[in-house]
Amino acid sequence: MSALVGIIGAGGLVGRRLAQALAARTDASLRLGGRRPDAYADLAAACGERATSHAVDIDDAASLAAFVRGCTLVVNAAGPSTRIGARVAEAALHARVDYLDPGGYDPLLDAFERDASRIREHGLRFVANAGLLPGLSGALPAALARTLPRCERLDVAYVGTDRWSWASAYDIVVSLGDFGLERPFCAIRNGSAERRPWWRASRAYTLPAPIGKVRAWRLYTEELARLARDERIAQVNVYGVNHGPASARVLAATKLLRRYRTEAGRERAAHALVAASERDARTHPACFAIVVDAYGEDAATHRQATLVIDDTYAGTAEVVAIAAQAMLERRIAPGAYSLHEALAPEWLVDRFLASGVRARLDWPPTQNRLREIAA
Ligand SMILES: NC(=O)c1ccc[n+]([C@@H]2O[C@H](COP(=O)([O-])OP(=O)(O)OC[C@H]3O[C@@H](n4cnc5c(N)ncnc54)[C@H](OP(=O)(O)O)[C@@H]3O)[C@@H](O)[C@H]2O)c1
Repeated sequence: MSALVGIIGAGGLVGRRLAQALAARTDASLRLGGRRPDAYADLAAACGERATSHAVDIDDAASLAAFVRGCTLVVNAAGPSTRIGARVAEAALHARVDYLDPGGYDPLLDAFERDASRIREHGLRFVANAGLLPGLSGALPAALARTLPRCERLDVAYVGTDRWSWASAYDIVVSLGDFGLERPFCAIRNGSAERRPWWRASRAYTLPAPIGKVRAWRLYTEELARLARDERIAQVNVYGVNHGPASARVLAATKLLRRYRTEAGRERAAHALVAASERDARTHPACFAIVVDAYGEDAATHRQATLVIDDTYAGTAEVVAIAAQAMLERRIAPGAYSLHEALAPEWLVDRFLASGVRARLDWPPTQNRLREIAA
């Protein structure tokens, strides 16, 4: 019997592309879900007989339980993820079904920690942060760090812009407040977040077209904190910027005025970001770049990798599709993970590049063939 993959949020920007990828590349049956099945009736028809549509509302526990029941794997592509929290994951655990989430972020990782032993006991696989940021954002630094005999320091920058959906914009706004923890500009030193003064809070980067010169600001990400801990990397500096000028202004104002603190502030800031990202799209094509500098024990040992992806939603859906296939193929041992911990990061990057997504990787000349490492 073929697997049954349930996708909640199948009509959304990520969910729609994911359903198409799984219909094309696997023999799994698809259960497409959302509150308005008419919004993706065309998708169900395009996916053929293997796809069925089911109305599901995450806010209604009975409808969520009915949707999850009988699935092999449930993907939560609904959003905003920070509003949904662990509700879909909890329904999947209750029904003994594997779970995958392109978002989830730090709050979902906390919920995974609480349920980790039950997830393992039931032989289930739960994977969060399976997109570009977070997701590939952890895998590429991990893959580059592992090319050094010992990595002492990682500097990582995320630069991008796109026409954000309201759900994604809302989650970006919440992430500015570090999911409720409100960390100042900081670096990760020997496993802990260490405050940095404002005059050391940014770094200039020159990136390939269409991005060019940008100034990126320090961020704390739990994904890289976990990577630093697991790979014993003493120093990690993470920077990020939305290089669309109107979006950057909205995000700077949201951060300075702490608009992420109240529900009304989050909603207003998310609407402003959607509108700003629409304006930016007229002059700045969608693009997402990851730049990683890895340093060895001796200061002369330095390797850099730069990945540029042309379409952030296609890239995100591709990462989710690769992770979903890997879960169906049982490539992941039972447990609860952030994506870069679930799969060999070299394998994931390699599969992503081979997927046909429009992306360019500049990888160190000494290690030019990533495939050799992935093998
Ligand atoms: N890691 C990454 O790189 C990355 C990148 C992009 C997005 N994401 C995350 O992926 C998620 C989806 O983003 P998106 O841009 O695809 O959003 P989107 O286009 O707005 O789609 C969200 C979908 O969720 C559905 N939905 C909302 N509330 C629901 C509920 N209560 N019950 C059932 N379905 C519900 C909506 O359908 P109905 O309104 O019809 O119900 C909609 O189809 C977001 O949480 C975002 O943070 C992660």
